[in-house]
Amino acid sequence: MDKGKFLYEGKAKRVYRTADPNQYIVSYKDDATAFDGQKKGTITDKGVVNNLVSAHFFKLLEQEGVPTHFVELLNDREMTVRAVRIVPIELVVRNVTAGSLAKRLGLDEGIELDEPVVEYYYKSDELHDPLINCSHIRLLKLAEPEQLTTMREMALKVNDFLKKYLDARNIILIDFKLEFGVTEGEGRLILADEISPDTCRFWDKQTREKLDKDRFRRDLGGVEEAYQEILRRLLG
Ligand code: TMP
Repeated sequence: MDKGKFLYEGKAKRVYRTADPNQYIVSYKDDATAFDGQKKGTITDKGVVNNLVSAHFFKLLEQEGVPTHFVELLNDREMTVRAVRIVPIELVVRNVTAGSLAKRLGLDEGIELDEPVVEYYYKSDELHDPLINCSHIRLLKLAEPEQLTTMREMALKVNDFLKKYLDARNIILIDFKLEFGVTEGEGRLILADEISPDTCRFWDKQTREKLDKDRFRRDLGGVEEAYQEILRRLLG
């Protein structure tokens, strides 16, 4: 499948059309941003790691019965995906306190939660992706109530599967963000975007060392090494 017309450029990926109107090509970049784009940088070979790790997770999740946009890996930085209209909601699932949850609720980081916490954020650059609830989603008509129920169920299923899978590879799944899309025509709700060290928090089980984008966000050093370590533990 050849790359067709350029469609869209996000902070970390470019999307192209293909000859098939139902498929796009996603190309993963090394560009990194944080804090709503205020902090900018490059993480060498991040695009490769995020493409390969996302493809790996999408394949495993399909086997678990979670429908995803993944079609096939094209090369180290590119995959073919099903064309979708992205639902403008980011679902965050958390197993351990960290990041904005710790800050918002005045909690220390690293406290294991009794049950997963699911949060919704409105994907809006102007509003800086605010935290929203189910009433806000109905008010803004961001998704149908049944779609929201399905997204929540799928997010918890993804969490159950990935938590166990990563634990066996000495990684604690602290939290992660998912995006969903609706296919043209069929109107099927499927998992989209990426699942990578950019969109998850991964801690080493023994040392609790951070192996994700927090190393870039918080200037912790060893950023490239952390991304490569995740790739090695998952595919190495
Ligand atoms: P948070 O603690 O900053 O709200 O982040 C929760 C999770 O969501 C974390 O695994 C990182 C991921 N995330 C993204 O993928 N994109 C974003 O823009 C933000 C803010 C977080």
